[in-house]
Amino acid sequence: MASFSFSFSGDDIEDDGAIGTTQDAASAPSASGLQTQQTQGVALVTPTPVAAPAASAFPVQGKPQLPPQRHDLKEMLSKLPSKIAFSLLDVTLDRRDDSEASREEPYRIRLPRRELWDVKVQLMAEEDAEEGADVNSGGELAPGLGTHDVKTGIYEGGFKSWESSVDLVKVLLQPPSASASTSTSSTPEPSAVASTVLLRDGPSHVIELGCGTALPSLALFHWACATAASRSHRLSITVADYNPSVLYLVTLPNFLLAWALQQHDASPLLQQALSFDDEDGGDESGELELTDEVKDAFCAFLGSSNITLSFLSGGWSAEFIDLLYESSTTDAQPTAHTLILGAETIYSPFALESFSVTLLSILQRENSSSNTVTAVIGAKKLYFGVGGSLDDFVYRMRDAGATVNELREEADGVRRGVVQCLL
Ligand SMILES: C[S@@+](CC[C@H](N)C(=O)[O-])C[C@H]1O[C@@H](n2cnc3c(N)ncnc32)[C@H](O)[C@@H]1O
Repeated sequence: MASFSFSFSGDDIEDDGAIGTTQDAASAPSASGLQTQQTQGVALVTPTPVAAPAASAFPVQGKPQLPPQRHDLKEMLSKLPSKIAFSLLDVTLDRRDDSEASREEPYRIRLPRRELWDVKVQLMAEEDAEEGADVNSGGELAPGLGTHDVKTGIYEGGFKSWESSVDLVKVLLQPPSASASTSTSSTPEPSAVASTVLLRDGPSHVIELGCGTALPSLALFHWACATAASRSHRLSITVADYNPSVLYLVTLPNFLLAWALQQHDASPLLQQALSFDDEDGGDESGELELTDEVKDAFCAFLGSSNITLSFLSGGWSAEFIDLLYESSTTDAQPTAHTLILGAETIYSPFALESFSVTLLSILQRENSSSNTVTAVIGAKKLYFGVGGSLDDFVYRMRDAGATVNELREEADGVRRGVVQCLL
């Protein structure tokens, strides 16, 4: 089986923590015709036709995919280093119709992301500690811990934030209404489409497929943390990525950071644990100490706020769906309302087909239980040179009987769209 170097020391993870800076497609581990450029800290995945790579890093048809796996939160927490570094990404939310003059200046939500140079430092330290030993022989995390080669089907795209994930944040949250009470007036609110699930009576479940850095889920988690005292229903968030390494190294850390930043003002523990780099008089980046106390406080907060976080890895498949619906020990309550999210998950014909089948199967499953379910999917209009397109996805979903509504279109830069899918 073909293999390639994960190249953590090279193009993919920049030493300055920037995500998705331009890389040489021919040498990139993700050499699948997708080339990235940096704009405002978000990877712009610009479709670039390249010669067929020697080994594709993307899951490919006919090759074995990673088996689906559920990861235990406490175990994941135990694998994190004692400190993580982050930077903040500002996302400007679209203004609401009822905004007052005072609210007409741009309303921004700041989402944290673990710095990728910090991930690299962790990987190198762990490799040093193990002297090259394969410490995770049972799992896929091992190839990410150093310079090991990995096999075809291993995919690192989840380490970057892709453009449509920011579009999804804008579709899911809106600035607080003019009538919002003062206590919550700085908290963004679920948009109309997100409200159909999150503000209904009963527990709700957010499932982000192909989450990577999980910006859309992080935005909803930020809202959930801010409204923890007033929400009475359980909120379950399931984040799924092909690679366990992505979940361990960036997805979970990003949730920890989102919680710590949101709760910072109210918690002396977090005021001590969080530090900001203030060199330029700003607070764009910083570090979070991950002491046992901090980790315990995170778990306690989730428990007292009725929030469940679940982490699934592996290829989209029937087994993945079974695992998704296998109730975990911490989430025994039935779910009534489900919001499925996906950003940039249809970038090739194979990804488009396996994602569509997975999405349809979740929609069907929820519908058959008479649950409210809606999906919000963002993607580029065309993945030039690779094969996927938003139009093909819309066609595929409509062909299967789904209703697809356009929610947002982005004509600046690479053309993108966000659609809602219902069955
Ligand atoms: C281009 S990345 C997008 C990451 C993130 N949603 C964003 O927009 O920043 C595509 C994601 O889909 C996931 N993915 C791709 N193919 C998959 C498959 N066959 N099974 C499961 N996940 C897959 C990858 O793990 C990856 O995180």
